[in-house]
Amino acid sequence: MDWKQQSVLVTGGASFISSHLIDLLVAKGTRRIRVVDDLSSGRLANIQGHVDSGVVEFHREDLLAPGVAQRMVTGIDIVFHLAAIHGGRGFVDLHQAACAQNLALDGLLIKAAHEAGAGKFVFASSGCVYPNHLQGDVNQEVYLTEEMVGPPYDADNMYGWAKLMTEMTLRAYARDFGLKAASCRFFTVYGERGVENHAVIAMIARAFVRQDPFEVWGDGTQIRNWTYVGDIVSGMVRAAETIDDGTAVNLGTEERTRVIEAVREVLRYTGHEAEIRLLPHMPTGPLNRVASNRLARELLGWEPQVKFMDGLHRTIDWYFSSRERETVSGYLAGMLTER
Ligand SMILES: NC(=O)c1ccc[n+]([C@@H]2O[C@H](COP(=O)([O-])OP(=O)(O)OC[C@H]3O[C@@H](n4cnc5c(N)ncnc54)[C@H](O)[C@@H]3O)[C@@H](O)[C@H]2O)c1
Repeated sequence: MDWKQQSVLVTGGASFISSHLIDLLVAKGTRRIRVVDDLSSGRLANIQGHVDSGVVEFHREDLLAPGVAQRMVTGIDIVFHLAAIHGGRGFVDLHQAACAQNLALDGLLIKAAHEAGAGKFVFASSGCVYPNHLQGDVNQEVYLTEEMVGPPYDADNMYGWAKLMTEMTLRAYARDFGLKAASCRFFTVYGERGVENHAVIAMIARAFVRQDPFEVWGDGTQIRNWTYVGDIVSGMVRAAETIDDGTAVNLGTEERTRVIEAVREVLRYTGHEAEIRLLPHMPTGPLNRVASNRLARELLGWEPQVKFMDGLHRTIDWYFSSRERETVSGYLAGMLTER
């Protein structure tokens, strides 16, 4: 695909992940990128350089408002849909109705993109579409493969159900209406510009404000495959280039890291000698969530390039060089359950 020729829409384009996607598209030569974001959790600063250079045309608008989706997709070749009412574990567990609004948001945008004749629709889905019942045992070495999302469906909160419904909607539009589409199931993304409502950045922030005792949600044995944001956006671009039929593909590493291992490395790397306090009553999400990336290797020729410990060190370096202790102390507690 010649990215120099494409007109691209990035919804939710001021977010953490979207801003990295835009960096990559610009590096590939794309010169016409429209961003729509209501800045409910995104930050214009994330893409300000591209707005100033004229590559990004920025619209601060709510995609749920009448007519906005239709206007935004006009003249667009490729839609990357990342706008969502979304936060970290504290948010998705505690805000069901807010996350349910994604059903409306996604439905409106897909219909508008199809009617406007968009050439491709690429959706930011999530590991939250996988059945909870497959992810409850920390002693099992499970790698979630795409076909495990099937009856009996058992998605993770309204957030996960909405992502699942959107994947299914895109497959139906591809089959019935010929819309070219792809869904990418992101697994717990971290990296520069990440925010504290997600676990890795929360750990780093706690070390930054020198929290002691150092709080850890759950008993620390939960297993995750945190995936570096640069790998996620390169997978998303590959999906735009290669998938047309609405297939959903995992973008996640196969590294199995326990929460407590990540915490210990954050403490070691930052030189913060704190007592660890486990909080088993706080939300943890599924206990054992790791992707298989076999399908991504086959379909996209994609594999994650950044090992978790390397990406973690990079992210800590970025956070410590760009934040102020007093400011973070002021908002950290609220961010853990909000967006
Ligand atoms: N961060 C992760 O670990 C992760 C994992 C799986 C999937 N995702 C998905 O990736 C996407 C990007 O997430 P993120 O972590 O970069 O941050 P995010 O949740 O802040 O991104 C969502 C963006 O959408 C914007 N937005 C929300 N409602 C809107 C509306 N009505 N109109 C216009 N804009 C609106 C927000 O301001 C924000 O910029 C989301 O769709 C999210 O569900 C993220």
